[in-house]
Formats: sequence, structure tokens, C-alpha cells
Amino acid sequence: MTKVAIIGTGPCGLSMLRAFEHSEKKGDNVPEIVCFEKQNDWGGLWNYSWRTGSDEYGDPVPNSMYRYLWSNGPKECLEFADYSFDEHFGHPIPSFPPREVLHNYIIGRVSKGNLKDKIKFNTRVISTVYKDNKFEVSYHDKENDKILKDFFDYIVVSTGHFSVPYIPEYNGMKSFPGRIMHSHDFRDAEEFRGKNVIVLGSSYSAEDVALQCNKYGAKSVTIGYRHNPMGFKWPKGMKEVFYLDKLEGKKAIFKDGTEQEADVIILCSGYLHHFPFLDEDLKLKTGNRLYPPNLYKGIVWHNNHKLLYLGMQDQFHTFNMFDCQAWYARDVIMGKINIPSDKEIEKDINKWVNMEEKLENPDQMIDFQTEYTKELHEMSDYPKIDFELIRKHFKEWEHHKVEDISTYRNKSFSSAVTGSIAPIHHTPWENAMDDSMETFLKK
Ligand SMILES: Cc1cc2nc3c(=O)[nH]c(=O)nc-3n(C[C@H](O)[C@H](O)[C@H](O)COP(=O)(O)OP(=O)(O)OC[C@H]3O[C@@H](n4cnc5c(N)ncnc54)[C@H](O)[C@@H]3O)c2cc1C
Ligand SMILES: NC(=O)c1ccc[n+]([C@@H]2O[C@H](COP(=O)([O-])OP(=O)(O)OC[C@H]3O[C@@H](n4cnc5c(N)ncnc54)[C@H](OP(=O)(O)O)[C@@H]3O)[C@@H](O)[C@H]2O)c1
Repeated sequence: MTKVAIIGTGPCGLSMLRAFEHSEKKGDNVPEIVCFEKQNDWGGLWNYSWRTGSDEYGDPVPNSMYRYLWSNGPKECLEFADYSFDEHFGHPIPSFPPREVLHNYIIGRVSKGNLKDKIKFNTRVISTVYKDNKFEVSYHDKENDKILKDFFDYIVVSTGHFSVPYIPEYNGMKSFPGRIMHSHDFRDAEEFRGKNVIVLGSSYSAEDVALQCNKYGAKSVTIGYRHNPMGFKWPKGMKEVFYLDKLEGKKAIFKDGTEQEADVIILCSGYLHHFPFLDEDLKLKTGNRLYPPNLYKGIVWHNNHKLLYLGMQDQFHTFNMFDCQAWYARDVIMGKINIPSDKEIEKDINKWVNMEEKLENPDQMIDFQTEYTKELHEMSDYPKIDFELIRKHFKEWEHHKVEDISTYRNKSFSSAVTGSIAPIHHTPWENAMDDSMETFLKK
């Protein structure tokens, strides 16, 4: 019997499990599956952990999520086609839920059967070697402190790529008398009440960490971008300036001449794709981009088609794109999809990579990833979902952000699965200080 290892049980690993479950329910003989998860529970980044640094076994903590994190895109854009929000919560809920609500939704879909039995928790994969047509996987059973080994026909890498921080250094950091941290270790904006906060970066973490600090009472928030400013209309107490030059004592000096007193520097400088558990010739090497090279259909490793990667793209689309990828990967594993010649693979990868390199603005990027996801969707029996409506929602959402970065989360969208329209949340996001599921779901 074919044997498959799924490494990581965040949203991507769970999509993979769900894809096999779907097939099994239709009467197919599915392969034997073993999942490895280094945390003590499933859900990936959506598990909140107070921990930073190491876990109780000395293993690096993968979690990058923080208290008060709300979805930064409409939930209607990530909804599972086979498990709607209405089905999970029993009624329509607002479009921008906090982390706990999305975590509950992700887990709800996989909790009904016996999928959890397939997962080895507290188990970190430490090496993967391909020889004699099999993958030899070594893993650390952290609870019993044992290194064990198993053999597989296929490997699915679903370990995420927002867990290992990229940490640049600026002049003056060594003698800065305040706190310097990466957004990976950011847990609670309350910590920075009354403080002068410098946020470095110009992507989603910079945007959200800066807004959180402002919302929870920072004295000032200064964002230093490197290449392009986000350019939003920032609320009172926030500004965006050009690139940090150096720190002199407590003073942050920017290249546009701005000087700002600083108590804390938060590096929102992104993450590394990091696969220390894969042999060199199996390892994806890429920055955070919409079409990482060497992956056929964004999934299949170019020179070993039994190695499949999920969710390695920079992400507009998330959960339902992961599903489309998992359904495709399942069909590759079960022999329903044939992989073409090396020449065809290279041609197809180059086509997408070249298209990606010409993209100039968020609308084009949304179009690109929607086309990619639609192509995958058409290749498997993943249930029907209206990606054209999702494309439209993403563009509208982008425009809402430009209109007002503080209020875009108060808008409502319609479901591409059920058609239901989200109610407006009882408290505008800028005033909603409690992010618990209980409070969020109150009518
Ligand atoms: C701060 C932050 C906020 C985000 N907010 C949103 C949002 O609002 N909406 C949205 O759609 N997306 C958001 N994302 C994007 C996020 O990438 C996806 O939602 C999703 O979590 C990706 O799923 P994944 O399974 O690829 O990775 P992850 O969720 O990272 O899961 C990977 C899993 O693999 C496990 N693992 C790693 N290495 C090993 C190993 N060697 N052995 C065993 N297990 C291993 C980890 O423990 C983890 O459980 C956010 C990301 C970050 C960093
Ligand atoms: N739900 C939420 O509200 C929420 C909150 C946070 C994050 N997220 C998610 O988390 C994921 C990761 O987002 P991310 O913002 O951490 O990573 P990212 O999107 O990869 O962006 C990395 C940022 O780091 C900047 N950078 C790199 N090196 C730098 C340097 N030396 N100095 C200054 N800036 C530097 C880059 O700027 P350049 O353009 O100059 O290279 C870029 O702006 C995304 O999927 C996002 O959606 C969601």
C-alpha cells in the first residue's frame, strides 16, 4: 500500500487530510497516512501560544500569531467550499473574525471523523532522504526523547513559511537601550501602551502590528519602510517614513531626516522559507513570492514528483487555495493526475514565473493568484465555489483599505459558497478591544 507522510498540521496539512477523507467517503482506497506535528495540537499558526523562543523541549516555537489578531482579509475569500461558515456557526457571522473564531472554524471541519488519530503530535521531522525509491524520514518524538525512522512513498511538506523570522541588523542596535524584537515574537500590544514604537517593514505585519500598537495606547508609532511605503491614511499618532538609517542611543534616525525618540523597535521584516529537515536536492529555496520556482503547479517538486509542497506561495488566497492544492496533490498521489515531461514542467513553471515578474500592483497580483487557484480548482473534484466573486471581493477589500485603514474591517461581504451576506459586527474594529470568540459572536 502507498504510504504518505504529511509534515505539519496547520491549515495546509489539514487540507491534505480532508482531501483524502473526501476521497475515502466516495469509496476510493486511500493510501496509508502518517502526519507529523511538532506542536502538541493541530491548527498551525492559528494556535495561539504565549511562548516565544523555545518550547518545553528546546524546540523553536513556530507560532507567530498574537492576541487581538483579526483576519486581515474578508473571511468570504478564504471560506472552505465543503464547509461553510454558516454550517459551522449555525448562522451568518461578520466578515472579519478574530483569530480564535477562525481557529475554531478550521478545527471544526476536521474534528468530526477520526483524522486526529493519524497525527503524531510533539513530533518533529528532522531529516528526509530519498533513496531506493523511498523517502527515509527521521523524526524526534519529543515527549519520549527518541529519534525514530520510517519509510514513505510520498512526502507532503506543509510546514508553513511564516515561522522562522528574517532579522536584519541596523547600525546602533547593539547599544540601543530599549527593546528590539521581531514580529514573530509580538504577542500583546498592551505591552507598548505609553511607549514610542518604531515598526520596520511595509507589508501586512508592519501594517497590523503598527495599528495594534496605536489601538492599544502606544504614545507614538513610526513605520520605517525600505522600498515602497504602504501609503495608507494613518490614524492620529502614526506616521510612515523612509528607511531607518541608524539608532543613536534612544533616537531613531531615518534616511529622510526624520528623528524619533524610541522605546521599542519591532522588526516586521518577514520570514524565511526554512526546511532544515529536507535533503539539499529536495529543498525549496525561495523568497516570499506568488510563484516560487521549481514547483510544478506550485506544488510538485520539479525533479522528484513524489515530493509535494503546499502553501509555499505568498498569500492573498489562503484556506480554499490550500484546499485546491491538496485536492490536486491527492490526485497526483492516487494516480488520477499524470505529471508531464520535464520539458513541459519547465515550460509551465516558466510561464507562471514570467507572468509573476511582470505584476505591478495588488489588483494584478489578485488576478494572478485567482487564475492560479482557478486552474487547480478545475483539475480536481474540489466542490464548487465562485472564485470570480472572491476575486471581486479581494479588489473591493483592497480599495476599502486605501479609503480608510482603520475601518476596512467593519465592512460586509457575501459568501461565495452559500450566498449569505455577513452581518455588520456589533462593535467597529477600532473600538473592539476584546477579541474573544464569545464577545465576537454576541448579536
Ligand atoms: C501573523 C500572521 C497572521 C496571519 N493572518 C492571516 C489571516 O488573517 N488570514 C489568512 O488567511 N492568513 C493569515 N496568515 C497566513 C498563514 O500563513 C495561513 O493562514 C496559514 O496558517 C498557513 O498554513 P500552513 O499550514 O501553510 O502553515 P502553518 O500554519 O505555519 O502550519 C505549519 C505547521 O507545521 C508544523 N511544523 C513545522 N515544521 C515541522 C517539522 N519539522 N515537523 C513537524 N511539524 C512541523 C508547525 O508546528 C505548524 O503547526 C497569517 C500569517 C501570520 C504569520
Ligand atoms: N491577520 C493579520 O492582520 C495579519 C497580521 C500580520 C501578518 N499577517 C500575515 O502574515 C504573513 C507575513 O507577512 P509579513 O508582513 O510578516 O511578511 P512579508 O509579507 O513577507 O513582508 C516582509 C516585509 O519585510 C520588509 N523587509 C525585509 N527586510 C527589511 C529590512 N532590512 N528593513 C526593512 N524592511 C524589510 C519587506 O520590505 P521590502 O518590500 O522593502 O522588501 C516587506 O515589507 C502574510 O501572509 C500576512 O497576511 C496577517
